[in-house]
Amino acid sequence: MKYSHAALLLIGAATPALASPNVQDDFVGQGQIHVLNSSSYVTADPATDTIGCLTATGLLSKRNCATFTRTESYPYMLVSSRGLCTFNDKSMPNNKDSFYGKNTYAWHCLEGAKAGVEGERYYSVNGFKYPYLCNGNLGCYYDIPAAPSDDDDDGDSFAIEEVGKTNAVQPVWQFFWGSHQMGITPGHLQVLWLWVPASSKDKRDEQHRLAM
Ligand SMILES: *[C@@H]1O[C@H](CO)[C@@H](O)[C@H](O)[C@H]1NC(C)=O
Repeated sequence: MKYSHAALLLIGAATPALASPNVQDDFVGQGQIHVLNSSSYVTADPATDTIGCLTATGLLSKRNCATFTRTESYPYMLVSSRGLCTFNDKSMPNNKDSFYGKNTYAWHCLEGAKAGVEGERYYSVNGFKYPYLCNGNLGCYYDIPAAPSDDDDDGDSFAIEEVGKTNAVQPVWQFFWGSHQMGITPGHLQVLWLWVPASSKDKRDEQHRLAM
């Protein structure tokens, strides 16, 4: 169960109307997905809150940033060099410590995944200061067990099997809440996904590393 953030979105859309860029239009083509440790898209700041980025397998690492492509037609999905990315792969770890998330699965990019299962689609919302990525019915926050630790791995080598074995990669779930658990699971972090459009030079590369 998840309550809609529509009221908050409307407030967010009305306040900085003139200053707000048309962030929906930024979410096209290719880009990286940076992850911000923040429970507020209003106050989040990419310069200070970024803790990592998503890998080609769909995990969170500190610097192993993959390039994703947004599909050009409905349902709008994200694709990496590994394949389509989805929260519907039931072989992924479930968010067992979360009241509302315990039957949900970590994000995974894999060959052969199906697009648009159970309303899954990705978009940004005009009114956001930056192009944060939402999914489904206004799911604009994500849930991670911990921030990723440093890694000295240059390549795109994080396999799903490494989840739980190294702190350098973390699974990423959608954030669900409701009356039984209003906030993030204690010990977890509530995060935002920021779309960072690829420059034309970057588009030629498969993998990029975050400069942090
Ligand atoms: C994440 O944000 C919370 C709340 O601002 C803060 O207490 C915590 O130290 C941050 N953690 C990391 C890893 O940045």
